[in-house]
Amino acid sequence: IADLVKISLKDDPSKFCVMPRKFTEKDLEKIKNMEIFEDDIFVITFPKCGTTWTEEMAWMLNNDLDYETSMNVKLTERFPFLEWGGIIQHLDVDRIETLKKLPRPRHINTHLPIFLLPDQLWTVKPKIIYVTRNPKDAAVSWFHHHRHFHQYQGTKEDFMEAFSKDLMFFSPMNRHVLDFFKIRDEPNILFLFFEDMKRNLEQEVRKTMKFLNKNYSQDQIDKLCIHLSFDSIKKNKTVNKNEELESFVTSVGGKYDPNVYTFIRKGQVGGYKEELSIKENEMLDQYGKDPEFKDFGFEYKF
Ligand code: A3P
Repeated sequence: IADLVKISLKDDPSKFCVMPRKFTEKDLEKIKNMEIFEDDIFVITFPKCGTTWTEEMAWMLNNDLDYETSMNVKLTERFPFLEWGGIIQHLDVDRIETLKKLPRPRHINTHLPIFLLPDQLWTVKPKIIYVTRNPKDAAVSWFHHHRHFHQYQGTKEDFMEAFSKDLMFFSPMNRHVLDFFKIRDEPNILFLFFEDMKRNLEQEVRKTMKFLNKNYSQDQIDKLCIHLSFDSIKKNKTVNKNEELESFVTSVGGKYDPNVYTFIRKGQVGGYKEELSIKENEMLDQYGKDPEFKDFGFEYKF
């Protein structure tokens, strides 16, 4: 938490986002001013809400179910991050240039909140898929991510408290989600829930297929659902991020053991029940009931 900083809008300090301190205003300006194309596809999420899963679904649907490329090119290359080159570092000098040179249609993912996104998103209006997940499962998933990815040494309770107090990077989660929920009916926005993908993947695949103006047969959809299942994604080397995890952990002097942690970890709805203490559960319960949600009819799914 020590090297994080709150970035807020100058004219509205209530709109803030917690970011790594290395992330400069200049980086954010570059993002704000970047050129957007009509055929870009964005996946936008608060961390640990199903980003990787949704990216693979969207990429496959938008690329004629190209299993060959999907099995040979890493998802992080097919669907790069907007704000960094795969690991927590400040925007590399040529990042926006790199994204500019991607073959179109570009597939880009980001955890940035609405107010830090490129201005042209709202004028050019490319397709945006937003995915959310209940904050308890997301927080637990992130706790494990932090322990094994970022070598977090603190306690689970401290982590959950920091999460509930909006001190984690990309926090606040509630506003992140609500800002997109408010615009979910715009024709270029698709708002999904991790829990719906878990309960009825085919239904969410069909929804996304329609949103991307694609049409596939029942057999093709069945095959895609198998490809997107937890077990296949966990085994899928271009998607499961094990290599990225290993290279990052090694670079910060840690040791990565895939028997202890994998990025594609449990993939459950309600897994938090086995991991949170009564106190931690209460903190997150409280967090997930943001008073503003009622005004807009939003509720997390469990
Ligand atoms: P858990 O840590 O709870 O297992 P993100 O990609 O946003 O970082 O989200 C990662 C979470 O999505 C992890 O949650 C991961 O297991 C889960 N996930 C990824 N692919 C999945 C799939 N096919 N089915 C279910 N969960 C999946």
